[in-house]
Amino acid sequence: MALAYGKVILVGEHAVVYGVPAIAVGVGVAATASARVGQQSSLTIGIRRWDLAAREATAEARAFDALVAAVADAGLAPQIEAEVQLHQPSGVGLGASAAIGVALARAVSDALGKPSAERPAAEILAAAQAWENVFHGKASGIDAATAYHGGCLWFRPGEPPEPLRVQRPLRLAVAVAGPAVSTRLMVESVAAFRQQSPQRFELLLQSIHALVQEARVALLLGRAGDLGALLDRNHRLVTELGVSTPALDAACQLARDAGALGAKLTGGGGGGSVLALADADGPERVLAAWRQQGLHCFEANVPGALASEVFG
Ligand code: MEV
Repeated sequence: MALAYGKVILVGEHAVVYGVPAIAVGVGVAATASARVGQQSSLTIGIRRWDLAAREATAEARAFDALVAAVADAGLAPQIEAEVQLHQPSGVGLGASAAIGVALARAVSDALGKPSAERPAAEILAAAQAWENVFHGKASGIDAATAYHGGCLWFRPGEPPEPLRVQRPLRLAVAVAGPAVSTRLMVESVAAFRQQSPQRFELLLQSIHALVQEARVALLLGRAGDLGALLDRNHRLVTELGVSTPALDAACQLARDAGALGAKLTGGGGGGSVLALADADGPERVLAAWRQQGLHCFEANVPGALASEVFG
């Protein structure tokens, strides 16, 4: 069984698509997959099955073809029967599609007799990215990198991700505060904003870039208060990019009122999830406040991890 982590983006989503660094955290196992060489190519995710012999014109069928071709590299791609179990909600900014891509790429590679654990990360990530591009459009690769490595990652497109050794464990609370949304549409909406207001976009990008650098320092020095303030600032900036919603704003405010050090949307926005950084007392008050509003929520802790533990 091959697996991949879910993710939350701590700071820098959307800006990362334009080359700005971002910080993401792997949370829990989001997807597990198995695959075998078979008679007919098929993909089953949960209870939905695509019979790929029929070459259905769905995004999933196209994405699976692209993934298998990338895993096989220049080799012949035989018929592959693959199954994926998802262990978290999809479409809500928690990296489900990248987790499926990574778990599938690992499983398909193993099935083709190329043990995924022995392949360079870049090869598995390239296959996962071939899957992900169908769903995200211009994906930065941060979701797939976090799904692959887990831990707390400094990510910049085109560079190998760097595990961050956080000084103190982070106690995060995550809530699904809006409906499922297509990340592709949200990435396209930011591209449209950029086209309409290039100067404003550039200034917002610079501000996000600066706060991501500060967040890295706050993490490495274990300054939770500073990090909380940076989450709030990041939320205001992505709101100006047009990707927040009243429901996401309200969930962030609820968390701050319940004692969170900071809160922001996480992922593509337009719906989906928010995250809050808890103070030393932990996230219980924040989680209770969200539950009272009927929101699905959970705690996501980030241990003070060593690089060897993260990438080992
Ligand atoms: C989605 O989790 C993060 C975005 O920045 C898109 C991407 O980086 O591929 C919105």
